[in-house]
Amino acid sequence: MRDYEPVPLPLVEGAAYSGTHVPLIERYHERLPFEAGDKLVSLQEGSTPLLRAPVLSKMVGATVRLKLEGANPTGSFKDRGMTCAVSAAVRDGAKAVICASTGNTAASAAAYAARAGITCAVIVPDGKIAQGKMAQTLVHGARVITLDGNFDQALTMVRELTAAHPIALVNSVNEFRIEGQKTAAFEIHEALEGGVEALYIPVGNAGNITSYWRGFREMGAAPKMFGFQAEGAAPLVVGHPIEHPETVASAIRIGNPVRWEDAMAAATDSRGAIRVVSDREILDAYKLLAYREGMFCEPASAASVAGLLKYGADGAEQVVCVLTGRGLKDPETAIANNEGRVISCPVEMGPIEEAVLGDP
Ligand code: F0G
Repeated sequence: MRDYEPVPLPLVEGAAYSGTHVPLIERYHERLPFEAGDKLVSLQEGSTPLLRAPVLSKMVGATVRLKLEGANPTGSFKDRGMTCAVSAAVRDGAKAVICASTGNTAASAAAYAARAGITCAVIVPDGKIAQGKMAQTLVHGARVITLDGNFDQALTMVRELTAAHPIALVNSVNEFRIEGQKTAAFEIHEALEGGVEALYIPVGNAGNITSYWRGFREMGAAPKMFGFQAEGAAPLVVGHPIEHPETVASAIRIGNPVRWEDAMAAATDSRGAIRVVSDREILDAYKLLAYREGMFCEPASAASVAGLLKYGADGAEQVVCVLTGRGLKDPETAIANNEGRVISCPVEMGPIEEAVLGDP
């Protein structure tokens, strides 16, 4: 339930937004570290759908909803944090931003930097980011550095670099990222009128679970927080950093999350848990979401649903799974997991009829 009213548009002079879809800094300006008159860098992010999932609901015996964060402008939840991080960087006079990324943060930073008219550089693990994310980052004009190393090493480099140069760091070590991302919890809380009992969410660098917990706490809510890591990249579950993390869910291929303590606190304080799901379980959930619920998310996002299917709803009746990014981000994984399903035909009715009408 909302205890305040959104401000009338435009809050910012000359803001070029229209319709009912209010940029999230404006929608939640009373709960975010911005003042009226601050110049906001926005692509009209947030206000994403909360979709009922009838098939999953039946499978787990609870009402399951999917928070569709892929509906954000660059196709992932990162835009919530990025509108805040880039707006703050611009306010503070930054001319450039930088991040380490498994792909989505890079795509988002590149888009918001383009919108702001500032420079963006990203450092990504070579060959380990999905094609869609690379395409986005390039079209927005970011400088792309690939590293013969993993995300954790890229982040170490970026932190050293920003300590020595006046470039704003927009990874989730940046508090503005956490502040922006907490708004997804506000939206869920408002939509379900405080009724959410358990949240299922993938965990990589652990910024997002930290943000949701902060957001729910600010609303006076305390759903159980269930975070999921991929088996080969589950430092929070095994209790120590993983030097060589591996998983099909490239977005969460992270061995040493920066928000480690915050994520553990979210799980413990909410009486939830951080648990592990295998790549097989992630891909099964990914396919089920697409085949049965009509929802195409990226593999990392399916970790939330894989966790729900593996561990159950834990007595909760109102469950939300966060689908953090769009399926189109990662066409390689989609196609590789549907091999042999394309039927090629000559321009002849017989074989075409057989292909269309015959047994699958
Ligand atoms: N899902 C997707 C699609 C992601 O891209 C990420 C993180 C996560 C889940 C995990 O969120 O890190 O806050 O725990 N992606 C970062 C990136 C690391 O660089 O795009 P987290």
